[in-house]
Amino acid sequence: MKVEDLPIPESVKKSILESGVSILYPPQEDAIRAEALEGRNLVLASPTASGKTLVAELCALKHIIEGGGKVLYLTPLRALASEKYDDFQKYKNISKKNGRKISIAISSGDYDSSDQWLSRYDLIIVTNEKCDSLLRHKSDWIKEVSLVVTDEVHFLNDAERGPTLEVTLTRLMEINPKAQFLALSATIRNAEEIAEWLKARAITTDWRPVKLAEGVCLDDECQFNDGNSIKVNKDDQNPALNLAVLTIKQGGQVLIFAETRRKAVDYAKRAATVVSKHLSKIEKKTLSGLADKIAESGERNRLNDLLAELIRNGVAFHHAGLVTFHRKIVEDAFKEGRLKVISATPTLAAGVNLPARMVIITSYERYESGYGRFPISVLDYKQMAGRAGRPKYDKIGEAVLLSRTEEEQDYLMESYVFAKPERIWSKLAAENILRSHVLASVASGYVHTEQGLYDFFNKTFYAHEYGSEVIAPLVAKALMFLYKERMISFEGKGISATDFGRRVSELYIDPVSGVVIRDALKRRSESLTDMSFLHMVCHTPDVVPKYYPRRREIDEFGAYVGIHSEEFMIPIPDETDMIEYESFLGEIKCAHVLESWTQEVPEDEIIEKYSVEPGDLFRLVDTVNWLLYASFELSRLFGHKDLLTKISEIRERVDKGVKKELLPLVRLEGIGRARGRMLFNSGFRNIDELKQASIDKITQVPLIGLQTAKRIKEQVGGLIKAEEWERLKTKKEGKQRSLSEY
Ligand SMILES: Nc1ncnc2c1ncn2[C@@H]1O[C@H](COP(=O)(O)OP(=O)(O)OP(=O)(O)O)[C@@H](O)[C@H]1O
Ligand SMILES: [Mg+2]
Repeated sequence: MKVEDLPIPESVKKSILESGVSILYPPQEDAIRAEALEGRNLVLASPTASGKTLVAELCALKHIIEGGGKVLYLTPLRALASEKYDDFQKYKNISKKNGRKISIAISSGDYDSSDQWLSRYDLIIVTNEKCDSLLRHKSDWIKEVSLVVTDEVHFLNDAERGPTLEVTLTRLMEINPKAQFLALSATIRNAEEIAEWLKARAITTDWRPVKLAEGVCLDDECQFNDGNSIKVNKDDQNPALNLAVLTIKQGGQVLIFAETRRKAVDYAKRAATVVSKHLSKIEKKTLSGLADKIAESGERNRLNDLLAELIRNGVAFHHAGLVTFHRKIVEDAFKEGRLKVISATPTLAAGVNLPARMVIITSYERYESGYGRFPISVLDYKQMAGRAGRPKYDKIGEAVLLSRTEEEQDYLMESYVFAKPERIWSKLAAENILRSHVLASVASGYVHTEQGLYDFFNKTFYAHEYGSEVIAPLVAKALMFLYKERMISFEGKGISATDFGRRVSELYIDPVSGVVIRDALKRRSESLTDMSFLHMVCHTPDVVPKYYPRRREIDEFGAYVGIHSEEFMIPIPDETDMIEYESFLGEIKCAHVLESWTQEVPEDEIIEKYSVEPGDLFRLVDTVNWLLYASFELSRLFGHKDLLTKISEIRERVDKGVKKELLPLVRLEGIGRARGRMLFNSGFRNIDELKQASIDKITQVPLIGLQTAKRIKEQVGGLIKAEEWERLKTKKEGKQRSLSEY
């Protein structure tokens, strides 16, 4: 089937042809024949790289241009949302029937907003969680959505985040029964079942545009599923590195998946010495520029320094310890072919298009605290392997698992390479998650009676899989909790949310966090410190992962608790209850990390002292910022006026990572904590002092270049004379450095 012959507007055909696609892939053809363009609901379950996105693009453009419709595109990950946003840019100059150009928006943050601005856009790309929060705020434009695309719908299986996707889809089907639903999925066993639930047709294929040879290696030999085998040079002790070199010599790029962050870094370090020998002078020069970009952005710390050093050698690691910005630099450099090897944790796997000729999966096991070691699922394995051989980049792809013994090699061949992915199971039964969705249903006014609630949950995938009699008692239990905690109330057959319940639901926090904060604020003592609030939020279930004290920290934090016992708003558990007590000490550790951050302790010292890497720190800061915002809102609701200033101050300090004295300075755009501290120490302690100072004087402060100084002056309301600006520009040219602060 040719793109030319499709029943879509000419302008769309032109853009697609220009992007290099002229013939549809078989799964795409199947979807078109199954009436994807006539508004039919579909579940398209097809292998990695089989071009599922294009089907979504075709449907989306048809809705927008011909039907004047609105499209909601759901993805499970922010990184994927941003990749899809970039993909869609090629259509942004196409006009709709009314002559206006297609508008595309992306939104993934701020969960306490109905984002009215989104109503102006035709295509809205959101994460599943963001969509859930928009539904809670009853954003009225959602009713205008005529097509819902769900990318990676197999995420329903994810224990933590699957339920949100499930409830979001159930709700969207309920409020937009006429909308078309298009769900894209990796190959799974029960695509039919998901299709039944979505009132859709299932299309299942095992077609892949680029041949992906999957195999298992033992020492220097790899056996593939197509019967081939290869022998690799034994230059290094590590087979992964030998394989990587082989691929690089053939002009390919390599993606290594490691079990843990530490191992990902280790592999990258070892690969660097080998890979650097295969780089040309020009390649080294561009890589050096890239390394400088890493080193100059954000605060200097050992992780960034190491990353920069590895990048100089054509290699990088990629894991959640890196800040998003650095991860993006690594992904882009790999896409542009500059980096030869990335060694990553499995978080990189879902949906992204990377030019990996070879994927090496170094271990089929994972470790999670609480669970111990366990083998990964076939679905996860296929997702990782599927990053190899993407049509945009390569003509072939190879994915190998490493084994240690012959027995293991046979086992891996059978259990992964030749195995079929598992079926998808709903994870909605998790008590904590269900509670939150039961509250949201009532609080957002989607249901008004207890029966209405049961009816809604009867439409979920969970009920579809297990039956309505299984979900009902779980919903009842959640209701009981919410009633006891005064988040909902009953009146006859009617059910409604209290102000408390409504606000907790809108704030998008776990109901238990709402209870923790409410009770803590009520119980507060006279001696409140920063620590009181930081500890309170660290105690809520929304702070995950939890922190645990190391053996040597138990005494240190134990002593701290003894001395500061008056300050805590959460009762201290008895020391004899080891589990509770140690988890309390873990919360103290979490609060200490935050306190160090707000005391301007350098990132490097935080990494050293608490083993918390920048990516973890930023995620913690993000969550705690949000929980402190929620605490502020709940303080207002419960009439704790005396706490408002204190909470908003500590929240701002957590957000910026500064002491109180820097707050007026870091409120300026372009001034982070490093520049703020430099300004302060150079005698500019407030806005007025900056206003009075000449721009020349401000540029004398370390880290403050001419452009930054100009931005400061523009914001504080000082005047810059044209001739002064010209004089400075000439004087300072060549002296500029590009330090972009977060
Ligand atoms: N008909 C086509 N002809 C040529 N290239 C295509 C065609 N359709 C899609 N592609 C390209 O194939 C690549 C993979 O497509 P896409 O990302 O949609 O895969 P996917 O099925 O969503 O895979 P995953 O399950 O890994 O998310 C993209 O680079 C895309 O541009
Ligand atoms: Mg995809």
